[in-house]
Amino acid sequence: MDKMWAGRFSKALDKQADDFNSSIHFDSRMYKQDIIGSMAHAIMLRRQGIISDTEEKQIQKGLSEILADIESGNLQFDMNAEDIHMFVESELTKRIGDAGKKLHTARSRNDQVALDIRMYLMTECEEIGALIKNLIKAIRDLASQHKNTIMPGYTHLQRAQPITFAHHVLAYAMMFTRDFNRLGDAVERMYENCPIGSCALAGTTYNTDREWEAERLGFSGISLNSIDGVSDRDFCVELLSCFAIIMMHLSRFSEEIILWSSWEFKFVELDDSYTTGSSIMPQKKNPDMAELVRGKTGRVYGDLMSLLTTLKGLPLAYNKDMQEDKEAIFDAVDTVKKCISIFTPMISTMKPISENMLAAAGKGFINATDLADYLVKKGKPFRTAYKIVGEIVAYCIANNLILETVPMDKYKEFDESFADDLYNEISLRTCVEKRISAGGTGEKSVERQLDYITEFLND
Ligand code: ARG
Repeated sequence: MDKMWAGRFSKALDKQADDFNSSIHFDSRMYKQDIIGSMAHAIMLRRQGIISDTEEKQIQKGLSEILADIESGNLQFDMNAEDIHMFVESELTKRIGDAGKKLHTARSRNDQVALDIRMYLMTECEEIGALIKNLIKAIRDLASQHKNTIMPGYTHLQRAQPITFAHHVLAYAMMFTRDFNRLGDAVERMYENCPIGSCALAGTTYNTDREWEAERLGFSGISLNSIDGVSDRDFCVELLSCFAIIMMHLSRFSEEIILWSSWEFKFVELDDSYTTGSSIMPQKKNPDMAELVRGKTGRVYGDLMSLLTTLKGLPLAYNKDMQEDKEAIFDAVDTVKKCISIFTPMISTMKPISENMLAAAGKGFINATDLADYLVKKGKPFRTAYKIVGEIVAYCIANNLILETVPMDKYKEFDESFADDLYNEISLRTCVEKRISAGGTGEKSVERQLDYITEFLND
């Protein structure tokens, strides 16, 4: 295919250079946004008297036919075209002749590509938002069945204090609500700066109406500086950071699921449909989905770093380096969508094993803080109580006992104020039930967390 810019050149582009330069093999996925953007541009040109009514009608008809033909499979992308923008324009000109050549008046591919990516990401972010909400719903449903499932809570991966499984997984639900809101903020900002009409970099001499065109395309404003309009990829970086944070959350959750499904923990059993076997060890049931989600996190971080690095040191305005934005952001979009889509059913089909969680909570002296608090309630300063309980724990370890099985006469040797009511005070159930401070693990607090999540989902 002859290049649109061929006029200035006496020789065709080298084949290898042409392939290297071309982006159609990845930017063709923006065909719809490119066509919708062009449709709005044509109306604006007609409204401003830059093209005639007839020309605009021909352009609209041509563009809608191209869209329909791409979607029905009747029109294949020409991989010799430089990019999707060139492809659509030359296809239009092929179909409607001279009117097609007028479409590119008062714009350039520099503002066009900046517009197309934004519109493309808008659709993708809506889908990702819906996927996040589904995931939050799955966590909410899991939590509501386990408000009384006691498990050890950890710090430093050492058993620390008893909590409920509901409380633990709701921590992830909270993270994903922030992810949803963070994505929404970034999308809103992306829609404040419609770049179209910035043209190559300096604006245009035509009497355009950028505000009208922006509003028509659903933007809340236009980029106020045409150089910024074509050079800005902040929105890609912001979205990539949102995606990186989502992946970080998925990865932490994956890590726990991987640990929990090991024989060492056995707190959960993953469904057969989300695990794989080993080619050599017949007993194996591997949490591959969770591992892959954890693994793909690195890839999305890489996409963020790659774009930041591409943009670093770029002079204004458009530079071809910026074509690299798309592969990074598309890869991150695809990866995040795939990961959330697999993670949600994996956790909805996962079976928590309450007995094992409770048994683990029974070891490791996770009620030691509560025993110290017991002494504090009897009038001891916390530091003194802390020291006494430390000695009791050491005694238990030496004698293979747990706090619940130390006899009362032994407790009395450590401190006179111990009495029979301590056994109830340090029962795991009491330890959990009494932690009703806002955000705590007690049932009332967990109920409030569940209400918050339900409200969030209904919003
Ligand atoms: N394919 C290009 C990109 O993705 C479109 C913009 C090209 N502009 C230019 N002046 N060569 O960035």
